[in-house]
Amino acid sequence: MKLITSLLLILLSCSVFAQEVNIVPKPSEVNFPQIAGSLTVKPTTPIVLAGSGLENAANFLNEYFQRFYGFKLEVKKGGSFRDAITLNYERLDNDIAGAYILNVTKSGIYIAGDNPEGAFYGVQSLIQLLPVPVAGQAKPVLTMPWVSITDKPRFEYRGLHLDVGRHFFPIDFLKKYIDYIALHKMNYFHWHLTEDQGWRIEIKKYPNLTKVGAYRDGTLIGRHPGTGNDHKRYGGFYTQAQVKEIVAYAGKRFITVVPEIEMPGHAAAALASYPYLGCTGGPYKVIESWGVFEDVFCAGNDSVYSFLQNVLSEVMELFPSPYIHIGGDECPKESWKKCPKCQQRMKDNNLKDEHELQSYFVQRMEKFINSKGRKMIGWDEILEGGLAPNATVMSWRGTEGGIAAAKQNHDAIMTPGSHMYLDHAQKQNEDSITIGGYLPLDTVYSYEPVPATLSEEEAKHILGAQGNVWTEYMKNTRKVEYMVFPRLAALSEVLWTQKDKKDFSDFKKRLEVQLKRYELWKVNFAR
Ligand code: ACM
Ligand code: ZN
Repeated sequence: MKLITSLLLILLSCSVFAQEVNIVPKPSEVNFPQIAGSLTVKPTTPIVLAGSGLENAANFLNEYFQRFYGFKLEVKKGGSFRDAITLNYERLDNDIAGAYILNVTKSGIYIAGDNPEGAFYGVQSLIQLLPVPVAGQAKPVLTMPWVSITDKPRFEYRGLHLDVGRHFFPIDFLKKYIDYIALHKMNYFHWHLTEDQGWRIEIKKYPNLTKVGAYRDGTLIGRHPGTGNDHKRYGGFYTQAQVKEIVAYAGKRFITVVPEIEMPGHAAAALASYPYLGCTGGPYKVIESWGVFEDVFCAGNDSVYSFLQNVLSEVMELFPSPYIHIGGDECPKESWKKCPKCQQRMKDNNLKDEHELQSYFVQRMEKFINSKGRKMIGWDEILEGGLAPNATVMSWRGTEGGIAAAKQNHDAIMTPGSHMYLDHAQKQNEDSITIGGYLPLDTVYSYEPVPATLSEEEAKHILGAQGNVWTEYMKNTRKVEYMVFPRLAALSEVLWTQKDKKDFSDFKKRLEVQLKRYELWKVNFAR
């Protein structure tokens, strides 16, 4: 009899339902009950909110159901948890916001976050328990195994960037992009809004920035140095109303949008709009090719600082982000060397070289940003000539900038070209034009954001990492998706998954299901 019972149990656990889930990024703990079973979500299953502030998680889930399964669930405030998808709060152990538990049992689905964000991430995992519909086949029954998941993020900054300066992308695409960030449990969208080739954000006080600076008269054909210019006017910008729409959309997905306004370099579009901002007074043109250009904001002219403060004031009104990114990368010093105003500024402030002048510039902007209660981020060049007192460093020229920042007690976000530049080719025989480099999926996956040379104390300054998407060679949204996917899946695991749980071969197995989800979402991923 005992033998028969055991056999029955084994049979049950093998045949009733496969005890397997394929969640990306990999959760901290996934446990299946000894006796396997399954639960089916039906169109009549309610979502029960057991606390306030859980609407965003419920709405995201419902929109997902509507979009991919063709129905919406009833959302109830309070009520019986039985046979429901319950969203709740529980005290969970993690320093970083976003921990959650997800239990699927005979009596329903229970998600509890340590805050609204945690509940939202629980919903993201639930979404990945749902069978993936396949085009041309009947909608699947929404059955999932009984399972108990305990999960928490590893890093507090889990970012993806997009350069809308080199190429411009519509608002609808940005919303999709933000959804993709959310679906990978990431929480920062770094919006690179200004470039030599285009100024993309409406600033009411300075209408020329978008009247003039948002458009170029042509674009380089082919890969730099190119085979000519297409002589087609190109451009676009986001109105302040659209910016607010994006920030709100992201906010509902627990994503902070970090705006980047580039200074003192990558400023040609601003200079073309207001030539007094440059060292020579111009005339300047919105740039039509790719690279690093000598015309930058004049560091010796006080009206440049007033201009940038006015711009940042409008930016800070639009973006609630605690961080404001001021760029700071790739600023050639040639025009400053030739400019009497810049040279005078150096004399007046005892600055020994142009690097110190850049540091002066950045520190002046930081003081302004801090005075408004925000924190400044800059690319790692802001270390040159002396780091601004409270700056967070985005380390892109390798990891050295991040290491130097952490050793100086500054926060850092790691975006090294070697592992985090999603504009680099992901195949050795890539047939589309890219900026070059080679960054395959497994290299992204292998990235460890905390440099081994840091002490435990210093390592606390590494807030996380970010994938950068520079768009010189991404003319349309399909190309952006092609470059981002599936490397975003690997990146999400770098940022979310606990270090000891990372395993590339296990990831590849789960990725097969993730790719089916990409097909469902109609993402143009690299195969
Ligand atoms: C950068 O890639 N210039 C930050
Ligand atoms: Zn100057």
